[in-house]
Amino acid sequence: MRVGAAALALWALVGCQRAAPSQPRRAPAPPTTAPAPPATTPAPAPWSEAWLLAEGARYLDDPGYRRSALEASLTEHRNNYAQLRLSHYGLGASGWDNLPAWSPRVAPVTVAFSAPDAAPLAPLWDRRRPSTLAEWIALGHKVFTLYPMRAERFIEWGLGRRDALSAHGVVPDAQGAYPGLVAFRDLEDRPRVGITCALCHSAPHAGGWVMGRARRRFDYGALRLAYHRDTGTPVEPSLAARMATWGPGRADVTEDEAEDPVAIPDLFGLRHQRYLNQAGTLRHLGPVTLALRQETQLLDSNHQAVRPPRELAWALAMYLYSLTFSPVSAPATPASQRGEAVFSAACRSCHESPILGGDAIAVARVGTDPALAMGSARGTGRYRVAALRGVREAGPWLHDGSLARLEDLFSEARFAPDFARRVGRPGPVVGHRFGLDLSARDKADLLAYLATR
Ligand code: HEC
Ligand code: HEC
Repeated sequence: MRVGAAALALWALVGCQRAAPSQPRRAPAPPTTAPAPPATTPAPAPWSEAWLLAEGARYLDDPGYRRSALEASLTEHRNNYAQLRLSHYGLGASGWDNLPAWSPRVAPVTVAFSAPDAAPLAPLWDRRRPSTLAEWIALGHKVFTLYPMRAERFIEWGLGRRDALSAHGVVPDAQGAYPGLVAFRDLEDRPRVGITCALCHSAPHAGGWVMGRARRRFDYGALRLAYHRDTGTPVEPSLAARMATWGPGRADVTEDEAEDPVAIPDLFGLRHQRYLNQAGTLRHLGPVTLALRQETQLLDSNHQAVRPPRELAWALAMYLYSLTFSPVSAPATPASQRGEAVFSAACRSCHESPILGGDAIAVARVGTDPALAMGSARGTGRYRVAALRGVREAGPWLHDGSLARLEDLFSEARFAPDFARRVGRPGPVVGHRFGLDLSARDKADLLAYLATR
């Protein structure tokens, strides 16, 4: 990382970190795996390897720290996301702490796949705690690509119907592996196929495969509906109707009654996100927030029957921070340079972080579809100012992926009641009125600038 970017990163985190549990501490609890530093050693700089290792040891070994970090990270304690975690996580003798730590035997799923146990399964993890950042990241890569979030019947069905998989964005990479699919043995020792993070958060791009990039061609709803149609397995009619409207690149991950599909986000530059999730559900106080997010996500998606060993959740967080955007951005032009000035005047008050994101702001102020922000699932009454790194290629845009064309963000046409280019169903794409009153030339320059980000 360049020095300038590192300094900014520090500022961004320290800025929202006052009194936060992950604040660099003068006297950290001695980690069990490394000798305590002499009292005179200055606290390691945030995001340095020493700091990350110390934070990791604290997350792994200090239950009180995990619980207090959870409470501090949850922006709004009344939504379902928060309630579930507050009532089960970090309670010691009761709750999720008692679940078995599950580290399965796994194998990648390849084009040669014939049956879940035909591939030689191997332990995902050798149960040794990594001691360097590089080792944590390498382990995190394995978790991201191979830790089962859960077994998925519709994927198992799809492996007998490869055309259905590829029609909905589940395709092999150049080496013949299906990123995001995993063969494993479940708790009852049955051979199964499941999904991993890489199913939604990795994608083909420019002839290669990019980890962290949203799988914008993956149509989760349509694939599940194809499975139900083909097998005759019953599906609740209102859920079926909702799945039909998600379209590629979106999924309703909130498991509430509201119709609120969310765009699958890119995971680049996460370190600079002050909030995690579009509705700002988690204050990103430091790596412990991300590790808690991932530990509880893996636990919840595996039906709360097992928990991942915490080492794997920490490894996953370290891996996610290591993902950087591979620049595909356009080179600067005179138009994009003029656009940068327009951006500074009209946009930077909100889009101000190193990745051109920012704080979570009241939904009334941004005015976009309020269903997610006000919903009982993850709602906080706010939306996070979206990061604009790689934005030109990050469509469909807005938290719900309702905007199919970036140009339309700056056009009054999208407010029409029958606006046809809205993703999912025709209708207005409301809110985010910023920049609408700019001249046509300023708008064109602004778009040229955004293409360089
Ligand atoms: C079925 C698709 C899907 C899978 C599988 C999936 N995610 Fe996501 N992920 C999403 C969606 C959709 C969101 C947006 C949720 C929101 O904003 O509320 C998201 C959000 C995130 C975020 C927050 C990003 C940000 O900018 O705030 C992180 C981090 C993340 N996912 C990591 C993971 C990891 C790690 C895994 C594997 C354990 C995983 N996801 C599995 C769809 C998926
Ligand atoms: C008052 C704060 C604010 C201002 C000013 C503002 N934005 Fe935003 N912007 C937001 C918020 C909040 C979101 C996320 C809204 C949502 O997803 O519902 C957003 C989302 C976006 C997105 C969608 C990104 C994506 O990946 O989905 C783009 C593009 C964008 N803004 C560009 C701009 C530009 C260009 C300007 C200046 C003309 C601007 N914004 C001014 C707050 C602001």
